[in-house]
Amino acid sequence: MALGEGVSDFGEGQAVFGFVMSGAHAEYLVVRADGAVLPVPKGLELRDAAALPFGGVSALVFLRDYARVKPGQKVLIIGASGGVGAYAVQIARIMGAEVTGVASGGNEALVRDLGAVEFVDYRQQDLGALATRFDSVIDTVGVVRFGQIKHLLTANGVFVPLNFGLREIRQALVSALFGGRRVRIGVSGDTKADLAVLGRWVTDGQLRPVVDRRFALSDIRAAHAHVEGRHRKGAVLLDMVA
Ligand SMILES: NC(=O)c1ccc[n+]([C@@H]2O[C@H](COP(=O)([O-])OP(=O)(O)OC[C@H]3O[C@@H](n4cnc5c(N)ncnc54)[C@H](OP(=O)(O)O)[C@@H]3O)[C@@H](O)[C@H]2O)c1
Repeated sequence: MALGEGVSDFGEGQAVFGFVMSGAHAEYLVVRADGAVLPVPKGLELRDAAALPFGGVSALVFLRDYARVKPGQKVLIIGASGGVGAYAVQIARIMGAEVTGVASGGNEALVRDLGAVEFVDYRQQDLGALATRFDSVIDTVGVVRFGQIKHLLTANGVFVPLNFGLREIRQALVSALFGGRRVRIGVSGDTKADLAVLGRWVTDGQLRPVVDRRFALSDIRAAHAHVEGRHRKGAVLLDMVA
């Protein structure tokens, strides 16, 4: 790493990890020193640090700022083994919630290991028929509509779809006016403060990177195809240098 003029928070050549909303597949990138970039937490391999920011920051922001998860609450996470979901399960547990994770059966062990106390295989069970009532339902995949899961929410429960369109925008506005069960939508951002929260959780052993597969830059098409298949387990990494 090289430093711009007047930057004193980092050392020349120091290993850093970070996140830019605009994204980049590049060996070198110019970022603001006050942006979402920090030294790699002690004891963490550089390649594992790369697996944290996207899923971790997204999960943190949606659980903390949109679902507003409180200790003791019940949270349903759809896509619990995925890029955001694998972090959402861990972070909801860190926040003191009781997590039910949804994925296919082959990922049950992973999702439970990440901290889910209950698991639902969406290929075997109808989500709409679950008996539990949740304080929040987080859909990281874009597979359910508010109308399909509204009855699974507690009286003031919140549905947080990470993918949303006009329908969810309207539902968020209308449900905010009337109170009760509601939809909250938003974007997750990329701040240094949120990255620092992840770093602290990793350092004290509460959060771990989840790495699915690594691809060489020359296999970028296969990497994108794998991610677009919507069955990744945590983060997919690109090796920039052979
Ligand atoms: N609004 C924002 O600011 C913001 C921020 C970040 C992300 N996002 C969006 O949020 C989404 C996050 O995606 P991601 O990368 O985390 O997803 P992903 O990794 O592609 O999701 C994979 C997960 O979805 C599960 N899954 C696949 N098909 C399913 C189905 N039919 N029903 C239930 N679960 C199913 C998979 O389980 P199995 O493999 O076991 O099938 C796996 O757990 C993206 O669309 C992204 O655009 C939005």
